[in-house]
Amino acid sequence: MASDLIASLRGKKDIKILFVCLGNICRSPAAEGVMKETLSNHGVNWTVDSAGTGDYHIGDLPDWRMRSAAKCRGLLLTHHCRQVKPADFEHFDLIIGMDANNLANLRRMAPTPEGAKKVVGIGQWLDPSLGYDYVPDPYYESDRAFDLVLDLLANACENIYESLR
Ligand code: 4NP
Repeated sequence: MASDLIASLRGKKDIKILFVCLGNICRSPAAEGVMKETLSNHGVNWTVDSAGTGDYHIGDLPDWRMRSAAKCRGLLLTHHCRQVKPADFEHFDLIIGMDANNLANLRRMAPTPEGAKKVVGIGQWLDPSLGYDYVPDPYYESDRAFDLVLDLLANACENIYESLR
């Protein structure tokens, strides 16, 4: 269970977190940026990265709409898109998917049962009052969807830190 995994990591000095979405150009690179900023604000230095289950945008910077929305909040997103690889399931402590499709894909991609156990949904760190238990894909949506992604990630990343510190 995810709560057992979280409990087993609590207090660890370097926790390694991989955020995953489909394209790795909108939600997960934003999650990487927001989490790094959250950790920096708290003075901790964990390992944070992001990747996509798909291979459509490998090497690309985040979508300009995601970068623009993040820049409005003072956050520069400089990650270059990469696809999830088998070694990620060994290297990272937590592999956090943004929605149910990401989670299903990740569990299918996991090379071992141990690796699959590291896959958890971001929803469990979202305050119920926000009305979401996942981070919706903004790719085919308006600018407001990109702001919603950042609002949800700000809440989730703070809660991730609080649950693991
Ligand atoms: P992301 O958004 O999974 O949040 O990076 C998407 C980016 C690209 C595509 C779909 C979703 N795409 O179909 O190319």
